Amino acid sequence: MQASSSPLELSTTLPAILARHGHDGTRLMQILRETQEAEGWLSPAVLTEIARAVGRPRAEVEGTAAFYSFFHTRPRGKYCVLWSDNITDRMLGNRELMQALCAKLWLEPGRLSEDGLVSVNTTSCTGMCDQGPAVLVNYRAITRMTMDRVDAMAELIRNQVPLADWPAEWFAVEDNIRRKDALLDHGLAPGEALAAAMARGAAAFIDEIKASGLRGRGGAGFSTGLKWAMCRDAPGDAHYVVCNADEGEPGTFKDRVLLTSYADLVFEGMTLAGYAIGASKGLLYLRGEYRYMKDALEAVLARRRADRLLGAKILDSDFAFDIEIHFGAGAYICGEESALIESLEGKPGRPRIRPPFPVTSGYLGQPTVVNNVETLAAACLVASHGGAWYAKLGTAKSAGTKLLSVSGDVERPGIYEYPYGVSVAQVLQDCGVTNCIQAVQVSGPSGVCIGQDELDRRICFEDIPTAGAFMVFDCTRDMFEVAHNFAHFFAHESCGFCTPCRVGTQIVARLMDKLAAGQGSPYDINEMFNMHRLMQGASHCGLGNTACNPMIDTLTKFKPAYERRLKSLDFVPGFDLDAALSQARQMTGRDDADAHLAGAD
Ligand SMILES: Cc1cc2nc3c(=O)[nH]c(=O)nc-3n(C[C@H](O)[C@H](O)[C@H](O)COP(=O)(O)O)c2cc1C
Ligand code: SF4
Repeated sequence: MQASSSPLELSTTLPAILARHGHDGTRLMQILRETQEAEGWLSPAVLTEIARAVGRPRAEVEGTAAFYSFFHTRPRGKYCVLWSDNITDRMLGNRELMQALCAKLWLEPGRLSEDGLVSVNTTSCTGMCDQGPAVLVNYRAITRMTMDRVDAMAELIRNQVPLADWPAEWFAVEDNIRRKDALLDHGLAPGEALAAAMARGAAAFIDEIKASGLRGRGGAGFSTGLKWAMCRDAPGDAHYVVCNADEGEPGTFKDRVLLTSYADLVFEGMTLAGYAIGASKGLLYLRGEYRYMKDALEAVLARRRADRLLGAKILDSDFAFDIEIHFGAGAYICGEESALIESLEGKPGRPRIRPPFPVTSGYLGQPTVVNNVETLAAACLVASHGGAWYAKLGTAKSAGTKLLSVSGDVERPGIYEYPYGVSVAQVLQDCGVTNCIQAVQVSGPSGVCIGQDELDRRICFEDIPTAGAFMVFDCTRDMFEVAHNFAHFFAHESCGFCTPCRVGTQIVARLMDKLAAGQGSPYDINEMFNMHRLMQGASHCGLGNTACNPMIDTLTKFKPAYERRLKSLDFVPGFDLDAALSQARQMTGRDDADAHLAGAD
């Protein structure tokens, strides 16, 4: 549990944290997190001391602390309760539960209680959509919230019971693996893939990765072999491997499961990448919401060091490689690879101007490969079975298998692995739909919303590419409310670096609020299209480029959900909704899967 700081405690805790991190400014995120854990918040005196100790301007340190929603530069409650607010949590009743908790604690959402004991608020999707409604208490995940748990939680908070003494079963996070294929049924022993790659040699192994057709699983689908080859060839003092485990896209939780039950495979994939590109250091960037995994992951790393799969002389060769774990602090944008690198360097997570790309100038300005958790795990299959074997799985342009995080209106939410090319209808059949299907949101808010008449479409780069989210909505759901939730997600998560996205996402969220209140008109819909055009062309990164996708998709496919909210259909003389929609679809290429790929990164 968090404790408030006193100057006396500060004088002993902070120096120890700073010393543990070698007074290294690139470790600022870890220093801030650990200090906050010890002190309760990051006071001005603490920030001054940290800035002095790491040799960075105070404004810079304060800028980093202020950027991340999990850092607090003002006192906060002993208990900080954050309700996951993805649409799937809402469908499971998170709002009612949050209101009930607030009523029991006599406080308003977003406010600190008068005695300074507790605050209750919402946060973006916490990656527990298969076992929601979920909540973070002092950043520890609690799943499957119910009214009974709300009652008990209010009591525990009122009695100031330390978090360590709360019922252990509340903190259980299940894997919910429902379908395994080549990756989840890999059958590899730790070190097997690494030994196979090292027997081939680095250059030949990269050729094998190229031959496999492996493409990135983080959204953009870039060729992994090409990325590794470019990085290997780039000059630099050191090369780095970064595993992107930020997993912030609402509805996605497959990386959580890989890191829980397949950590060896992920770390082995990172080591393979290190061997291929000539790196001796790997960094796992794990989203702050998954901090509960830390001890288990450190234990796997320790075992791999003991087994000579990490460290100085891996498998008795001259290859040296080790892995460090870094944590995010509640910023979705840090999933974007250059923002993630900024965060790793202890800065606010704002996307860099590219080029240069990370493969030539990444972490600390050095050549860096950034790969998604699933991509790195899949590389182990290529190392063991060869590129030709892997290329035969899936479809012509989408080799291998894909993990889907299935949630929403289904009987069996969880992880489903399929060879690429599986139809949406097949996935729905396997996960057991509970009612007639209205829509499936594939790849999260920035992805594609498909309707009833498109269920024969396939999950693959040729048709619907996805980073993994698969949220199902039955006929009782209001698709306007789905898009409304996503609009607020983007407004909350815009990093604010460029004006079109910073302002545009706010305007779109307000327009959706207006429509939700029954105060909207066709003029507002027209404004939404204008914002979409502006943000698509002028945003600095994929977040701004894709932020209006949910509105355009649902306006196109579920128009009545909007029309019944309009005050007057002829408010703007001559405004033609259908013509505006068709123009928007042409502009954005929403029928073209490759356009999504280009927009995703
Ligand atoms: C706004 C935004 C968020 C992203 N979030 C993630 C993420 O959570 N995990 C991820 O692997 N890639 C994410 N990406 C894509 C990364 O920038 C990058 O393409 C990816 O990590 C590369 O790995 P891959 O080639 O293995 O897919 C995101 C991109 C954008 C624009
Ligand atoms: S598009 Fe949005 S998230 Fe991306 S850099 Fe601009 S403000 Fe930040």
